[in-house]
Amino acid sequence: MENTDIKTMPRIGEKAPDFEAITTAGPIRFSEYNKGSWVVMFSHPADFTPVCTTEMSAFAVDKEWFAQHNTKLLGLSIDSIHSHLAWVNNVREKTQVYMDFPIIADLDMKVAQLYGMLHPEESMTAAVRAVFFIDPKGTIRLLMYYPLNVGRNMEEIQRALIALQTVDANNCALPVNWKPGDKAIVPPPKTLEQMEERIANTEYEKVDFYLAKRSLN
Ligand code: BEZ
Repeated sequence: MENTDIKTMPRIGEKAPDFEAITTAGPIRFSEYNKGSWVVMFSHPADFTPVCTTEMSAFAVDKEWFAQHNTKLLGLSIDSIHSHLAWVNNVREKTQVYMDFPIIADLDMKVAQLYGMLHPEESMTAAVRAVFFIDPKGTIRLLMYYPLNVGRNMEEIQRALIALQTVDANNCALPVNWKPGDKAIVPPPKTLEQMEERIANTEYEKVDFYLAKRSLN
């Protein structure tokens, strides 16, 4: 494969490209799977590899947490369905963790290319560790890319998901290291009148008129 065959990656704010794929839960059409819920879609470089096993197991352990946050999981690697099934069964036998969320068998790299998961300087044949956060309207809201040799952080994945859902529910922005229960950023004023109002406001925690925080209910 020439480097020029690698598609550009979808970006934040864009519609998640639709596709059909074979998964460990049977065939899916992404737009159907995404209907009415968030999807966290993530690629791993290869089945039967150690870092991938730790990551995919972590998703499986927290599957119920994601369901409680109206979020479906969708894994992917450039492996066959037979490899996926054997790996899922092996991990269950060895660790009692059942990776029973759909994992796409992307042997032809169709989905990996569509989503920019192939980074040729890292590998021409294995997907990097990507995470796509896709909202119920099918919009890509947040992207993460990790190299082959560094595992992702499940706490950050979950924090990011809650943060996205929080900004949607509260029309706010969130500061560095925000976590549930922390205050949110109040959008900064855009006119002198709004600036004067903000200066006079005693309700918010203020550093100055452009940096104010409020509690979320
Ligand atoms: C791993 O999951 O351990 C791994 C996979 C591909 C390259 C390097 C590490």
